[in-house]
Amino acid sequence: MAKIAIIPGSFDPIPNGQLDVMARSAKLFDKVYVAVLNNTVKSPLFSADERVALIQRVTKGFDNVYAESFAGLLVDFAKSKNAQFIIKGLRAVSDYEYECQMALANRNLAPDIETFFITSSPNYSYLSSSIVKELARHNAPLENLVPNEIVQDIYNKFNKI
Ligand code: PNS
Repeated sequence: MAKIAIIPGSFDPIPNGQLDVMARSAKLFDKVYVAVLNNTVKSPLFSADERVALIQRVTKGFDNVYAESFAGLLVDFAKSKNAQFIIKGLRAVSDYEYECQMALANRNLAPDIETFFITSSPNYSYLSSSIVKELARHNAPLENLVPNEIVQDIYNKFNKI
């Protein structure tokens, strides 16, 4: 049976640490779906379609990674892809409590879907989409924080605001 994993998140926009989790997952699983939350309550910097397009651009070198947006419950998206695994990156102990809560809530909803945690690479353990946006807002350098191919897209968003 093909091993199919979901990497869920907001990815607004995708930082290097999350791309690293995708690259490492691509080696472990037959198919990896990056599930971009289309949350109508939050107002993200990039629309869900834009976030999917950015992820598709930076993962085009992997032939088993696919990006799609989803709304509703993550486990329903996972079931629609026949996925058996949810993958989350853990940057620090501070991530653990929230991620553990989510993993247990998902397990309660769908006992057959296992959540796996991957430790972030140390270079990226402090990095988040929020930090990237804060730096971009002040025109600080983004090299090494996000994939080079999307740096200009992020600056462009702030220059339009
Ligand atoms: O990058 P984020 O914001 O930490 O990602 C959070 C995400 C998308 C993984 C989470 O909010 C999610 O799975 N949302 C969908 C609703 C859901 O299924 N929640 C879990 C049960 S409470």
